[in-house]
Amino acid sequence: MNITLSTPPRPAGSRIAGLGHYQPPTVITNDDLVARGVDTNDEWVKSRVGIAERRFAMDETMIDMGVAAASKAMANSGISATDIDLVILATCTGKQQVPGGAAELASRLGIDSPGAYDINAACAGFVYALNSASEAVTAGHARNVLVVGSEKLTDYVDLLERGTGIIFADGAGAAVVTPSDSVGIGPVVWGSDGDNAHAITTDAASATLRQEGQTVFRWATSKMADVGLQACAAAGLQSWQLAGFVPHQANLRIIDLIAKKLKAPNVVVARDIVNSGNTSSASIPIALSKMLERGEVASGAPVLLVGFGAGLTYAGQVILTP
Ligand code: UT7
Repeated sequence: MNITLSTPPRPAGSRIAGLGHYQPPTVITNDDLVARGVDTNDEWVKSRVGIAERRFAMDETMIDMGVAAASKAMANSGISATDIDLVILATCTGKQQVPGGAAELASRLGIDSPGAYDINAACAGFVYALNSASEAVTAGHARNVLVVGSEKLTDYVDLLERGTGIIFADGAGAAVVTPSDSVGIGPVVWGSDGDNAHAITTDAASATLRQEGQTVFRWATSKMADVGLQACAAAGLQSWQLAGFVPHQANLRIIDLIAKKLKAPNVVVARDIVNSGNTSSASIPIALSKMLERGEVASGAPVLLVGFGAGLTYAGQVILTP
């Protein structure tokens, strides 16, 4: 038999048509953590991690926050539920192992029968999901894709344990990816280091997060600038041409050390960790959405995203802002 299967028409590229974010209203300062009984202090957290305050979800679920962020991204993109045919949810804090959350999220948004799946690449998850969305669009397999990073880390953190309870927080960010006549989402540079999988895990008995902070710190500060520079080169850019840099918001010292190595003195660096803490796969879309909302980068400007975290996994990608 000599049968050739047909493929759908392929657009030249993909782009982000709109972004949105949602953070729960309850603000928790470092002093609030001390008052709750955490053995820490404001000075240590600000100087070692850079966090002044973070948001904790009370009654809201991970899906609730994802719906809120996605609604804003859809409104900002001008693309409605009826035009979305794929939903990708990046999360590592789903309430249960089965089912994943993407189908429920889509249903809550009134998106009828889309392809729907979850990605768990922890804090690198949003960039993995964004790249998957871009590939689906450029392969002609989806018209418009909703990408959501949503996390309720407070469900998985011992909030009294000072190693993790001071860092992690809740929130969601989202993007709508659509076909384009030119490339608006550059090539991804991604990888993993499974030899260090033990560095960030959930404890089997308690299901709470544990991390070997210094192992991850050294890995991130020694490797992630190269990932970012490779992503720039893959997109055909010099790093000095970047308008913005939005790394995963894990630690202000990590952000600043990576930013310095990019040799892009005029780049606007996202430092949302100061007010939001570490929201894993939600941290990049929240910080990027805020950067646009504040008008810190122009429309059509190149912004470098670099996600990294449990796995260990990482991914870097240059996008053009909507
Ligand atoms: O999002 C996923 C990716 N994750 C990351 O990228 C995390 C990377 N790692 C980090 O950001 C940092 O390693 C942490 C913020 C997790 C920890 O900061 P560190 O500077 O590496 O602190 P450490 O764990 O080495 O502890 C230094 C000192 C210790 O005291 P001694 O032994 O020097 O007397 C700790 O007991 O700080 C003490 N300490 C604290 N003190 C006050 C540790 N945690 C706290 C705290 N408050 N919350």
